[in-house]
Amino acid sequence: MNTVKTVRELRAAVARARSEGKQIGLVPTMGNLHSGHAALVTTAAQQADFVVASIFVNPLQFGANEDLDTYPRTLAADQETLLQAGCNLLFAPAVEEMYPHGMTGLTRVTAAQLSNELCGSRRPGHFDGVTTVVSKLFNMVQPDLAIFGQKDYQQLAVIRAMVSDLNIPVQIIGEPTVRADDGLALSSRNGYLTDEQRQVAPALYRHLGQIAKAIKDGERDYPELARQHLASIKAEGFRPDYLEIRHAQTLLPATAEDRDIVILVAAFMGSTRLIDNLHMGLDS
Ligand code: PAF
Repeated sequence: MNTVKTVRELRAAVARARSEGKQIGLVPTMGNLHSGHAALVTTAAQQADFVVASIFVNPLQFGANEDLDTYPRTLAADQETLLQAGCNLLFAPAVEEMYPHGMTGLTRVTAAQLSNELCGSRRPGHFDGVTTVVSKLFNMVQPDLAIFGQKDYQQLAVIRAMVSDLNIPVQIIGEPTVRADDGLALSSRNGYLTDEQRQVAPALYRHLGQIAKAIKDGERDYPELARQHLASIKAEGFRPDYLEIRHAQTLLPATAEDRDIVILVAAFMGSTRLIDNLHMGLDS
């Protein structure tokens, strides 16, 4: 696996692969890779002939008081993970390579309206930062397909909307969330948790499971169901941003008639913001 740091080298390597008739798969990441990222690469390697991963901690998607400076940068370990998972080329640019003219006054891709909800309303500008960098990566690599984790459910929806709205010729694939044995969704930010916080963190997924069970058993007062579990999550030591039951495609508040539902949660454990979701279909 080669690592390149410039757009010129990236384009040359991808052009070589394409001239050999290879289908190109892209896995965009911010590094500090875990088994969840490895699963993205494994799927990409099954679906495409040449897998490009990117590692770029994108300043544009971090708010002023967020963890841009402390976000873990672990390039050597990440290279090993990517190699083992079947990646062919790593693009690991510096900020100056991605934003050579700086970030002020930059042309940006404004994310769809659904980006103003949920995480978007708590992290203003976050999804515009994501859509801008992802569309840059799509233009640099011009992949046939790109893989994103379903753990970032709203991000995946926003990227799908961007690809559809802007007619970007790339197939988007969502990869199921990879979890620790106790249910905690793997995330680069889990490393911020103290041992004690790490013990409590899987409660988030347990609540999602309990809500799903209540819905399966016939509960349809979604606001009340969410309110009850939000109160329990608070009592267990989380500082929740939201816990919502939404339509899985539109992300609008779910109604009793909806059959495709996603339960989404975002909550701080100490200073670490955790997100998770559970997507469920209801038989009609
Ligand atoms: O999910 C992430 O790691 C990032 O938001 C992404 C998609 C790589 C864009 O920076």
